[in-house]
Amino acid sequence: MSFGLSRGRRLDPGTVEVPPEALPPLPDSILLDPAAGRVDVRDWFADPGAPLEIEVGSGKGTFVLRQSGLQPGTNFLGIEYAREFYLYAADRLRRAGRTNVRMLCTDAAEFLHWRVPDACATVVHLYFPDPWPKAKHHRRRMVQDRFLEDCARILRPGGEVRIVTDHAEYWAWMEGYFDRWTRAGAGGADPVFAREAFAAPPTERDGELVGTNFERKYREEGRTFHATVLRRATEKRSLG
Ligand SMILES: C[S@@+](CC[C@H](N)C(=O)[O-])C[C@H]1O[C@@H](n2cnc3c(N)ncnc32)[C@H](O)[C@@H]1O
Repeated sequence: MSFGLSRGRRLDPGTVEVPPEALPPLPDSILLDPAAGRVDVRDWFADPGAPLEIEVGSGKGTFVLRQSGLQPGTNFLGIEYAREFYLYAADRLRRAGRTNVRMLCTDAAEFLHWRVPDACATVVHLYFPDPWPKAKHHRRRMVQDRFLEDCARILRPGGEVRIVTDHAEYWAWMEGYFDRWTRAGAGGADPVFAREAFAAPPTERDGELVGTNFERKYREEGRTFHATVLRRATEKRSLG
């Protein structure tokens, strides 16, 4: 229960919440066996066989709320580690009656790395990730090798990572990683990802890329946006 963002109204995540018991403690064997802590997140949904899309850093949940309504046959897992935003988003989704969405309050980078099984998702959405502009904080940035490696592992062949930012310096940083992960591998092996132009999903408001709160705020300020799609190779490859 929280009264912060809610302006005095009780926020209730209801069944949109992924309950804590869905994630038992990581076993001691995890360092020797990195897959030992994986849970089949598809089982958290009414239809575990539906395609799964994951949003990292959902904020107030505006994207996942709209997109889950436009794609009722797709399951959406929103991950947000700030508890107030998580509760606000989950409460909105519950009130909208969404049955194809679950919200999880945790660190998405750790969750993707330790918990999510191989080849289970069709899309990973990352919109307006925190830029951490100071050099001493760059290691906190979401886009780096471990994140892209985890995305490559958890995406089904042909799946996508979709990224949008307004932050020019973070974008330049990301481009270095995109280059590495879209390069041919050892012996001329196909790259892990292919880079594609970002096509906006269908939205209620024309001209938006993804229609998140941050996009709307920054659009009013006249900021420039940078966006890309990284498409997972149809054959499983690793970097190198
Ligand atoms: C700049 S906001 C963007 C929110 C939303 N995507 C939008 O575009 O309006 C970044 C969000 O990501 C969340 N976040 C940052 N790092 C995270 C992490 N490691 N795991 C989960 N959420 C994270 C923050 O709490 C914040 O709500």
